Amino acid sequence: MAAEASPRYDVLVLGGGSGGYACALRCAQLGLRVALIERDKLGGTCLHRGCIPTKALLHAAEVADTARDGARFGVNSSVESIDMPAVLRYQQGVVSRLHKGLQGLVSAAAIDYIEGVGEVTSATTVRVGDETLTGRHLVLATGSRARSLPGLQIGGRVMTSDAALGLTHVPTSVIVLGGGVIGVEFASVFRSFGAAVTVIEALPTLVPAEEPSISKALERAFRKRGIECRTNARFAGVDQDEAGVAVRLEDGTTLNAEVLLVAVGREPVSAGMGFEAAGVATDRGFVPTDERLRTNVPGVYAVGDLVPGLQLAHRGFAHGVFVAEDIAGLAPAPVLDRTIPKVTYCDPEIASVGLTESAACAEYGDVQTYSYNLGGNGKSQILGTSGFVMVVRAVDGPVVGIHMIGARMGEQIGEAQLVVGWDAMPEDVAPLVHAHPTQNEALGEAHLALAGKPLHAHA
Ligand code: NAI
Repeated sequence: MAAEASPRYDVLVLGGGSGGYACALRCAQLGLRVALIERDKLGGTCLHRGCIPTKALLHAAEVADTARDGARFGVNSSVESIDMPAVLRYQQGVVSRLHKGLQGLVSAAAIDYIEGVGEVTSATTVRVGDETLTGRHLVLATGSRARSLPGLQIGGRVMTSDAALGLTHVPTSVIVLGGGVIGVEFASVFRSFGAAVTVIEALPTLVPAEEPSISKALERAFRKRGIECRTNARFAGVDQDEAGVAVRLEDGTTLNAEVLLVAVGREPVSAGMGFEAAGVATDRGFVPTDERLRTNVPGVYAVGDLVPGLQLAHRGFAHGVFVAEDIAGLAPAPVLDRTIPKVTYCDPEIASVGLTESAACAEYGDVQTYSYNLGGNGKSQILGTSGFVMVVRAVDGPVVGIHMIGARMGEQIGEAQLVVGWDAMPEDVAPLVHAHPTQNEALGEAHLALAGKPLHAHA
């Protein structure tokens, strides 16, 4: 009875991915008694099956492209072969160093790390094996997993990103179903590694959530790289045998390849974990929350991919930190999806933050935009990349969106995010000196132009 009346923990965190471990670390810093429960590996999808291993493949792909394109810069070189087991050793080396570092951080913090499958038994209790943990607050951070389509069985030559990350050879040909973020990143990797690649996207453009001019530029660049892009294409079914896959489209076309990568989105992991025992409402598996990440049940929060909206690791970190500070009574500012930066690491890279032009028009009535072509940017010319930076401002108001495409443009997201996150006016950014020669100057030039004083651009 006494144990029930006085919970052992201030906070129970269910799930040790980006959202969960960030929450536990911040709770510990703030002196809250916290237990972090994880059934698999600390670090979750981002570290073991997502961001980190994928970006390692993308870096290996960039190395291959650099070697293949060397003659363009007067360096005669070629790619002899892609040694996938060696690529995977490099990838796993990165993952395992980061995993060890994270384990060290968590064990050095005052966190009770509990390995096991947690089941929510009430708003203040989680059962792990024979033990029941009690806490004043519960944070649900169980993340997401790759989804499939109804009737589309994953297995063998039909795989999601989970299996594609561990392929021990480069397939001769790949069909990618879904031209969203995962689809275009893997299409980019496989093409750089020498596979014939086709992307099937149901909507009219690749990366449909991006600014339309960015989507068009990506499609053009992909076609130039020899990636076949089938947009407005509806998937009808797939057959597989030892020879490969035959993918049927609704228009009657059949496409053949060695493997089919299914990248049609990710679904929340929430079933079978007792959320209903705590009375937590779900919507198609997601856990809706208010702006302060509170569920419908007092004391129960949700963070990361479980919460409807952007599914990004850094959103999860921000959610986790926010909840810890909210519980500690620090009244943190809510995490808003519209100021969360997004980077898609395909070649060419896409980076964006804030509103697209049409979303800004819907919100502000009228907007001004300026696109600065990387053709006028010295460093981009040195790198041999094309692309552009587009800045969207409310008329006579702050910058509300920045959209970029081109090699390495992901590195420019830091400044873009500060501009949008701080509601900066182009006139505030224009006097800031941007180092020369950098790709960063393209952002400077776009703001100069919007402030009415273009330097390396026409008014
Ligand atoms: P997504 O939602 O970005 O893209 C899925 C795509 O599949 C959409 O374009 C959709 O129209 C298309 N699609 C759906 N059903 C289809 C069908 N029957 N036939 C053809 N196309 C169909 O989802 P994705 O790419 O699986 O990524 C999941 C999440 O992971 C995203 O929220 C993404 O932001 C996140 N992520 C982020 C990364 C990054 O920040 N660099 C990297 C990888 C994933």
